[in-house]
Amino acid sequence: METVLSGIRSTGNLHLGNYFGAIRNFVKMQYEHRCYFFIADYHSLTTHPTPGDLHRNVRQVLVEYLAAGIDPEAATLYIQSDVPEVTELYLLLNMNAYMGELERCTSFKEKIRKQPDNINAGLLTYPVLMAADILIHRAHKVPVGKDQEQHLEMARTFGNRFNRLYQTDYFPEPYAYNFGAELVKIPGLDGGTKMGKSEGEGNAIFLADEPAAIRKKVMRAVTDSGPAIPGEAMSQPVENLFNLMRAISSNDTVDHFMDAYNKATIRYGDMKKQLAEDIIAFTTPLREKILEIDADNDYLSKVAKMGAEKARESASKTVNDVRRIIGFRGF
Ligand code: TYM
Repeated sequence: METVLSGIRSTGNLHLGNYFGAIRNFVKMQYEHRCYFFIADYHSLTTHPTPGDLHRNVRQVLVEYLAAGIDPEAATLYIQSDVPEVTELYLLLNMNAYMGELERCTSFKEKIRKQPDNINAGLLTYPVLMAADILIHRAHKVPVGKDQEQHLEMARTFGNRFNRLYQTDYFPEPYAYNFGAELVKIPGLDGGTKMGKSEGEGNAIFLADEPAAIRKKVMRAVTDSGPAIPGEAMSQPVENLFNLMRAISSNDTVDHFMDAYNKATIRYGDMKKQLAEDIIAFTTPLREKILEIDADNDYLSKVAKMGAEKARESASKTVNDVRRIIGFRGF
């Protein structure tokens, strides 16, 4: 049986990118594998949320994970900060993580650009904490979107380095996973190539968005001003729209608009109307579940407690083993 681990940072509501990248198809694995789904709330501290926001966001991700179909009895669904063993492994791994490789990490360079006034050490060591999340359960498969590929490579580096240093094969190599297919990258609606929480207004469709908000965002999505010019490559914003449609709509719908695009008869207004309705049909059952679970505090606290217990059982075993391998001994 393989161990599968999937994580989401608690920085706000989940969007379609999170859902397709890290949840959708992976929920079915929970009955066949040892699955961990967790909320990375320590990671969210790099942007200094207020205590109120921190708690609200963790709760929201928990609700949305459950609404998306995670069965807390079958899988282990937990909050990172409920498992303090992660921080000990993070400290131990930090000793073998080198400044140069951390500074070269793409997500770190991006953060430096985006938040030049807050380049904290947590940002630099973000991939080490992420490696600790993965290695603490000795995971093999890590369902993630394309943006996390480099972080997975670093987790493998840190695990392998530990194994080499202590001449052991304790940590298996974790891989970014998507059923043998390409990793997913859901585009944004603002012409950018990635749907993301911090990409700005109108970029992301959230699972909890009301139909009116979805229609508004999709209708405002960036497209070309006229139909395709024969011989010219498809523009990025139009390609984004098609990619979003491929994830959400039926093949017939995609073929219909692709055909119109190729014949240069496409009307982007029509395409967006169709896309908005398909997204609404897709998210409505999720939104209804979100509202239902959100109202049930007792259930949420039961789920969190159960998840913390199960996750700590696995995590404390790893930390004990690692301490022993490193050479910490009692007297
Ligand atoms: P985060 O919170 O940014 O995103 C959570 C998951 O959603 C995926 N994702 C996307 N997939 C496809 N298209 C998109 N536009 C898109 N946007 C986000 C991400 O790839 C990710 O799988 N560092 C992680 C959280 C984390 C983690 C871990 C993940 C911490 N520790 C251990 C896996 C294992 C992050 O910030 O993801």
